[in-house]
Amino acid sequence: MNIIILNGTTKNIKQHSMNLAKIEKIKQDFPEINFITYRISNEIKKIIDNEQYFFEILENIKKSDAVIWSMPVYIGLIPSQFKRFIELVFDKDCHKYFANKPTVVIMSSIKLYDTVALDYMREICEDLDMNYCGQFSAGMLEPIDKKFFLNFLSDIKNNFKHAKQTLPLKPSQYVFQAPDLKQLSDSDTTQLPAIKENSNIKYTPFNSAKKIVVVSDKLNGKPLDGYIDFLKRICPANTEIYDLNELDIKCGCISCFECGLENRCSIKDGFVPFYTSKVMTADILIFLGSQKDRFLSWKWKEFFDRRFFSNHIPTLTDKQILLIVSGSSVHSRSIFNYFEMYSQLEKANVCGIVFDDAKDDKSTADMIYANLRRALELAELKYSNNQTFFYEGARAYLNESLEHHIFSGLYADYNYYKKHNFKQMNFKQKIGKAIILSLYEFKAVREYVFYDKPCGTIKMKVIDLILGIAYRLRTRAY
Ligand SMILES: Cc1cc2nc3c(=O)[nH]c(=O)nc-3n(C[C@H](O)[C@H](O)[C@H](O)COP(=O)(O)O)c2cc1C
Repeated sequence: MNIIILNGTTKNIKQHSMNLAKIEKIKQDFPEINFITYRISNEIKKIIDNEQYFFEILENIKKSDAVIWSMPVYIGLIPSQFKRFIELVFDKDCHKYFANKPTVVIMSSIKLYDTVALDYMREICEDLDMNYCGQFSAGMLEPIDKKFFLNFLSDIKNNFKHAKQTLPLKPSQYVFQAPDLKQLSDSDTTQLPAIKENSNIKYTPFNSAKKIVVVSDKLNGKPLDGYIDFLKRICPANTEIYDLNELDIKCGCISCFECGLENRCSIKDGFVPFYTSKVMTADILIFLGSQKDRFLSWKWKEFFDRRFFSNHIPTLTDKQILLIVSGSSVHSRSIFNYFEMYSQLEKANVCGIVFDDAKDDKSTADMIYANLRRALELAELKYSNNQTFFYEGARAYLNESLEHHIFSGLYADYNYYKKHNFKQMNFKQKIGKAIILSLYEFKAVREYVFYDKPCGTIKMKVIDLILGIAYRLRTRAY
């Protein structure tokens, strides 16, 4: 049996890849299988420049019995270098090489937002018409369960077909054109004009002191000039517009983990200066891009990956993010999932996501205009979305893990979480906790509190009073 492994580590050969170590173990356990491994992220330049090599990989996939996608989770998705390969497959219409192949996804990570990445990979595999046989999310030191692999082999041998979960993608050729802006008067500036339902919006430029930074990727996807023209027209004066392709960004994250010590990136290019001086100082961020496969482009993913210099420390607290995507919202579960996750990771507020599904310039322009108005209002309030499990779960998990030095390379994270650690109680909270635990030592108190068992009216009143005070002392401050 021949199995192709498409590996996504960005580490070089000298570094220890968690993913490849796990794959190595499978190879040892199943010596009868012929595995061929491609280090896709490492070789991405060669794959792009050398078409023959790209098709050699695809031909081997076609001849194989099955494919394993194995990669790390990078900021809730896959590394940008690996995504670039997937985009190449779609751009060159190479579905036929993957069609009907049994496949599994094996991801190695600290299991933070791994589900977002796994959902995305499932969509990709199903878009390639592969037979998606399952996934294994492995913690850093967790080996791949042999039973998982035996199950996969059984699916391959028995030609077991798994049901698809994904609606097929329907790419659209629509390109947004900014409304005829020449007809609009420039002098008509006003403070957040009201938008009345069904009114004919005039796109009066907004007047606000808030700083807006627009970031786009114009090269990878559909032309975005119409959006840029329109934003230039309606955004307040304090707006700066950047394109990711024009910035000095040498490459995606290379997983050297030098940032773990003091949040310093080892890649010497313009990314961190741009991010810290422009992105982190904005009140409102407008992210603009095309839908590429089930997400934005690899160039956008490079932007998110390089943000990892700040590890798990939020960088965009209370900022409003407006996402504008040229693409179809019904096929963008991963985009919605991702930005829900991303807003909570950054403690920012994704205040609006606009797609151009309507394929109509007027309604798209209206939506952008209304969303920008809303972003300006929310920026004034410094509004941040209510936190869900993406935040609370991650925070609790990081607190717990960092406290026990599980991620020993993340020293900057450790210091940040130590300072903001909810479990580090102040004196009042410690007293409260000590009182509660001491009272629960008494069976009568436990029975009274948990089973409503009466223990004499005066005793009950005393317990209620002391517990009431203790719980107040112990209350966690958000
Ligand atoms: C840029 C970057 C982003 C990361 N983001 C995540 C993440 O969102 N969730 C997670 O669980 N682990 C994350 N990690 C940790 C990697 O998934 C983990 O180090 C992985 O096991 C590395 O695999 P490798 O050694 O094969 O490259 C990130 C690591 C890097 C370098």
